[in-house]
Amino acid sequence: MEGHSPPLPPLAAHGHLALSETELVDWGERFGRAARPPLIVTLRGELGAGKTTLARAICRGYGVPDEVTSPTFTLVHEYRGARSAVYHLDLYRLKGPDDLANIGWDDIMSSEALVLIEWPERAAELLPADHVPMLLQHLPDDPDRRLLYAGGHVGERKFGDHA
Ligand SMILES: Nc1ncnc2c1ncn2[C@@H]1O[C@H](COP(=O)(O)OP(=O)(O)OP(=O)(O)O)[C@@H](O)[C@H]1O
Ligand SMILES: [Mg+2]
Repeated sequence: MEGHSPPLPPLAAHGHLALSETELVDWGERFGRAARPPLIVTLRGELGAGKTTLARAICRGYGVPDEVTSPTFTLVHEYRGARSAVYHLDLYRLKGPDDLANIGWDDIMSSEALVLIEWPERAAELLPADHVPMLLQHLPDDPDRRLLYAGGHVGERKFGDHA
């Protein structure tokens, strides 16, 4: 399955189900407003798919007043939201389980916080099963729109094969 493109719903491939950046940010802010801790959200998708854009929008909706920037080199940024702490992780540069221990992975995963994880597949089996999966995908013929999958049905697919 390596390198295999997932099938796109026919309408989605024509942009009908795809979100502009404004629409994605809008959706993320609404999700953030509705989110209640403890909650772990995984954000999958290729480079530039919009994971940080979505994480930033969720944080804004959750009441994080600070500017949310990508934690690419530190692996994690912590913010104070209106309802709880927020941990935003980006595991792209994860080298191994030691890195996770160093950032206090177990404490973060068991905290009463909102946890947003980019490149969650890097954590492999250390990722708690109990999370809300989200996936963003580029469209082959529209650089300004993304497909967003969120919720239970996402977890039933084998995204590790192509993320
Ligand atoms: N519909 C869209 N939704 C989200 N981002 C979009 C959309 N259209 C264009 N973009 C652009 O795509 C880029 C997405 O970047 P972003 O940093 O959010 O991606 P990422 O998935 O976090 O990447 P990385 O894997 O490097 O962390 C931004 O420059 C954004 O402006
Ligand atoms: Mg990112």
